[in-house]
Amino acid sequence: MCNKQYDKVKTLRFGDLGDERGSLIVIEGMQAVPFEIKRVFYIYGSDATVVRGQHANRRSEFVLVNVAGSSKVRLDDGCGRQRVVELNTPNTGIYIPRMVWKDMYDFSPDSVLLVLASEHYDGSEYLRNYEEFTAQVRSQLQEEV
Ligand code: TYD
Repeated sequence: MCNKQYDKVKTLRFGDLGDERGSLIVIEGMQAVPFEIKRVFYIYGSDATVVRGQHANRRSEFVLVNVAGSSKVRLDDGCGRQRVVELNTPNTGIYIPRMVWKDMYDFSPDSVLLVLASEHYDGSEYLRNYEEFTAQVRSQLQEEV
């Protein structure tokens, strides 16, 4: 396996503490998600023609949840493995470890994509060039041998 981080991608299901008054989803760091949450942001108003993300992160881990509407995320390990996950329910998220390339796209008009991150924003840990990303994956493989 070329990029072992990619094997850590997983779907997370969050419990619903709701009752007759409605749903209540709680997401706590180091419990429902496997890191302390240092940053929260959300993306909305992106339409079906927009592709966001298009980067990998050296350090940050993320959990993505479509709290309204739907979108898709394409994950790429930089050495041949790819998968597409549709996010379309507020009680399900996808955990994305560091060093996985991600594209978010196919946003529904009502999409609100919530992102939980393990790190504060630091633009220098973003890999925004795909060739640079694959080179980095290959160099980490060398280090692991
Ligand atoms: P960008 O990384 O392009 O967003 P996405 O991955 O969702 O497509 O971010 C757009 C701009 O916002 C860019 O100039 C960096 C800035 N930004 C921050 O300052 N802090 C943040 O936490 C994020 C996600 C982006």
